[in-house]
Amino acid sequence: MQKVKHKKSHLRVRSASRSKKASRAAGDERLLDAEKFLLPTYKRPPIVLTHGRGCYVYDTTGKKYLDFLGGIAVNGLGHAHPRIVKVIRREAARAIHLSNLFHNAYQGPLARKLAEWSGLDRVFFANSGTEAIDGALKLARLYGRTPDTPATTAAPKHRVLAMENSFHGRTFGAISVTATEKYRLPFAPVVPGVEFVRFNDVADLESKFSDDVCAIILETIQGEGGIYPASEAFWNRARALTSKHGALLIADEIQCGLGRTGRYFAYQKFASRPDIALVAKPLAAGLPLGAILTTEAVAARVAPGAHGTTFGGGPLICAVAQEFLNTVEDAKLLKNIRERGAELREGLQALASKFDFIREIRGEGLIVGIELAIEGAPIVAGGLEHGLLINCTHDFTIRLLPPFIVTRGQVRDFLRIFATILTETSKLSALTKSNASAPAAHALAATR
Ligand SMILES: Cc1ncc(COP(=O)(O)O)c(C=O)c1O
Repeated sequence: MQKVKHKKSHLRVRSASRSKKASRAAGDERLLDAEKFLLPTYKRPPIVLTHGRGCYVYDTTGKKYLDFLGGIAVNGLGHAHPRIVKVIRREAARAIHLSNLFHNAYQGPLARKLAEWSGLDRVFFANSGTEAIDGALKLARLYGRTPDTPATTAAPKHRVLAMENSFHGRTFGAISVTATEKYRLPFAPVVPGVEFVRFNDVADLESKFSDDVCAIILETIQGEGGIYPASEAFWNRARALTSKHGALLIADEIQCGLGRTGRYFAYQKFASRPDIALVAKPLAAGLPLGAILTTEAVAARVAPGAHGTTFGGGPLICAVAQEFLNTVEDAKLLKNIRERGAELREGLQALASKFDFIREIRGEGLIVGIELAIEGAPIVAGGLEHGLLINCTHDFTIRLLPPFIVTRGQVRDFLRIFATILTETSKLSALTKSNASAPAAHALAATR
């Protein structure tokens, strides 16, 4: 308890040093409008970002930030990538939307490319990750039906096994399989039939699996949960159980897929593929596009009208997604992701040996988690001060998701800035601890 108090006041001390900038920014009408008219679903710092270029973004004061968050894994090609800008310009002047009642020039070829990358057969385009999750759960329930199950009764196989510490999105289907209680419980009752399994615990999986399970859903690398990869043993067991009992293995690769690990899909380090892989975030380089990738066997259960969307897979967005995938190939970005990721983790390991509040470095390629023994929020705030965008998940894990195009120099810059922030954090933490008993320090902190 005492420890937590130190951390909170530590945060306030840093906030004090930022108060000048915050009050300057607070006069910004855009911030005032946001505060007054937006639903308060996000806690945002008092800056307004305006544009980006490559791995940097800029705010209204002209301040430049090195972007190691990449729009939470979206900006694989960074910002304003010339190939993406060119395609958006070209296609915007041709057709932004045509309706899914007709073929467009890009959906089919994009689906083919995703099938080639994933080893799966068929694709459905959605508008976001969470929507892809909901679609996949519907497919699993469809797959759980026998031909003689009346449409009005539950499928004989209808249970879904999801993972503890998971995050799959914000729609009702997605929160039903999301373990984090604050995202799920306030909206109960959620979709029934879901049970949570301890991630990577084969015995727990076996004990909860039964013949009425239609799907096991997991993130191949848990992202929001703190960058925890599925173990090979767990994946293999989930694959074997689902195959044997006619259920589906669903891999949520919305955060970790499409190159981020240095492979097209994170599951490609395993010997088997899932029945459904879900992607979104980087797919259309910042435009909203998700996709459900699946097998012929699942596709055979789908008839026209079973699922659909107005916006998903429009011509402009699919052209952009095609350009993203082609750029990853042409620019040999998987190699860059592996090499820069290795340099990043090596540098972080060196920092971990200097700063005892770094507990563990996790991840692969350019999805990296730095688990701390202290709260990460002051470090994120320190990043903003020093021109660095990073994020903290589950309070204690700093999450890094830089663009795939990040350079060796930018990794070095990141490590230098991050080391400075860690040094300041450890000094502040020591100061806060030594002042913990001084009433004046607490009084000051309490007024912020
Ligand atoms: C693993 C995972 N699944 C699903 C989602 C939901 O995606 P979206 O925010 O596009 O709905 C996210 C978003 O962070 C995610 O990280």
